[in-house]
Amino acid sequence: MKKAKSVNLQSKKPHRILSEIMRRRRSVRQFERGRKVTRDTLLSVAESARWAPTGANSQCWDLIVIDDPTVRDAVIEIFVEQSKRLFVKAKGFPAVSKAYLANTVAIFIVVGDPRWKVAFPQHNKDEEGPDEYAANNENIYFCSLGAVIQNIQLAVTAQGLTSAWLSGGGEPSTNQALSDLLGYPSYLSACGTIPVGYPKKDVGMRYRRPLEQLVHWNGYAATQFRPQGMLDYYLDRLRPFLMYRNTESVEDWEDAREKCGNWYDAFSSSEPNPSGQFEQ
Ligand SMILES: Cc1cc2nc3c(=O)[nH]c(=O)nc-3n(C[C@H](O)[C@H](O)[C@H](O)COP(=O)(O)O)c2cc1C
Repeated sequence: MKKAKSVNLQSKKPHRILSEIMRRRRSVRQFERGRKVTRDTLLSVAESARWAPTGANSQCWDLIVIDDPTVRDAVIEIFVEQSKRLFVKAKGFPAVSKAYLANTVAIFIVVGDPRWKVAFPQHNKDEEGPDEYAANNENIYFCSLGAVIQNIQLAVTAQGLTSAWLSGGGEPSTNQALSDLLGYPSYLSACGTIPVGYPKKDVGMRYRRPLEQLVHWNGYAATQFRPQGMLDYYLDRLRPFLMYRNTESVEDWEDAREKCGNWYDAFSSSEPNPSGQFEQ
């Protein structure tokens, strides 16, 4: 198995260091056995989490850091059960078994506190018209949780560790099991669970859309719009490969033409919609 490369960041400029950490942040689902991590390292990751932005600076989350092997194994057991349910109840999703979590050195659980949504803009009851704020409060809340999870993953990467991002704790059954185990009220929600470990192999890359396909300068370019057929094809045929293959571009796959079919150009070029027509 290919070993993880260590990155020498010392000699680089800050923006290059940040960019390299961002590129190297990967969802890794296999960790090296028998490794340990210090509390100082975990606290330094938590400190990076603390500086994440939140709507209205509400800091609408807490962080449960698990480094006790007994508690870790109990959390892992909950996620192994969660993945078994996923295979049955969300059939078709290319999930991997959570058994890989066995070599996790620590787990960060971001526990969202939805009560803090009151801190975000609220519709004035005396005002006529629809409540535009309720739905946006949800966006602000979940974006705040996403921001902290991203900070954690980046800080973990900067420490030479790696992590995954498990969202299954947001499902009520899994959240209930976690709240029973860890002692938080079940109206809080474990929206993000980040198992941390030393990477067993180098997963340096993952498919990313070409930069020119997703950047729209000064307005939305209709030729860059992804047609519905492309999305349908992704769901039907491509999702497991785009999710798990260790390459940035589909062109680098030996079986790219076969896998991408008529949508090869759409997945590899800047213009997935050459006609420039939007579908209704
Ligand atoms: C909101 C969100 C939820 C995710 N949930 C899971 C999850 O439950 N299990 C998992 O293995 N990966 C999960 N991921 C990781 C994605 O599968 C992964 O980011 C994506 O495939 C790209 O791979 P990369 O992170 O290595 O670049 C999640 C990512 C995000 C942003």
